[in-house]
Amino acid sequence: MNGFSPWLPEASHTAFQTDLIFLGLCIAAGLIVVLVAALIIVFSVRYRAGSKAPRHKLPGFLARDLEIGWTFATLIAFLFFFGWAAAQDFTLLHSVPGALTIHVMGKQWMWKAEYPGGQREIDSLHVPLGTPVRLVLNSQDVIHSFYVPALRLKRDAVPGLTQTLSFTATRAGTYPLYCAEFCGTSHSHMLGSITVEEPEDYARWLTAQPQGDSLAAAGAERFRSFGCSGCHMGRGPVRAPDLTGIYGHPVPLADGRTIIADEAYIRDSILNPKKDVASGYAPVMPSFAGRISESALIELVAYIRSLANDTALNRGGQP
Ligand code: CUA
Repeated sequence: MNGFSPWLPEASHTAFQTDLIFLGLCIAAGLIVVLVAALIIVFSVRYRAGSKAPRHKLPGFLARDLEIGWTFATLIAFLFFFGWAAAQDFTLLHSVPGALTIHVMGKQWMWKAEYPGGQREIDSLHVPLGTPVRLVLNSQDVIHSFYVPALRLKRDAVPGLTQTLSFTATRAGTYPLYCAEFCGTSHSHMLGSITVEEPEDYARWLTAQPQGDSLAAAGAERFRSFGCSGCHMGRGPVRAPDLTGIYGHPVPLADGRTIIADEAYIRDSILNPKKDVASGYAPVMPSFAGRISESALIELVAYIRSLANDTALNRGGQP
């Protein structure tokens, strides 16, 4: 299980592949270092000042063909590593339908996690073993970097950008969580832990948390208090897109593009509504940037996500 890294547990489904890529790169880079260093030493002895070694022009094969050959060989070898690592990184972006979605927000200087049921944690995360998990990552202020070495997970939390990280934890335990981006004076204190536990233990932990409204229920309340429902539920004078069932589906835009309505799109639409205007609608929605807190945003996004499988009932009775 942990063949390549006895000192760091491999606690996620991608950990072994990540280690393999790292080992492969180390071996390839090591071989090149040894080869180049050996040639430097051999040549500096052989062609030292005053040595009798022949210094005539090299035959064409050595001067040209070998040069081209080894340049291409290393190019292809490293392009192979690039492809391998990129494919691996894509698996972290690709989420399984029905994965447990946890919102993680970086802020100076803590990590805040919010669970679908409305449970909240600071500098700590709990995830069930063997269950696909999808983290939705944001930052409230500056660039942070969410880094869990044991799970081989690392992604920047960038203000104004919503990123996701998908993984399945494969080994129970508590592992350190770091911020891997210098983010201010207390960057080094931005530490936490992620606890991977059996699904039963996770369920027990979850029910022991203080019960708040679920994120979606809190979001529904925000949807009313911010006045979104006035336009988006078709009862006000302004016609705005119906958001029922929109999450996860393609949205045609006014400029001819099509965009998938994921967390990033919903969030952008609230903060910067003129950016991607839905086709057939006037760009009349005001921006909510600066008027809405990060946690309210997370709740609103969770609410709109929850409308994905909804019937007309939740649209306030609209058919
Ligand atoms: Cu946050 Cu360093």
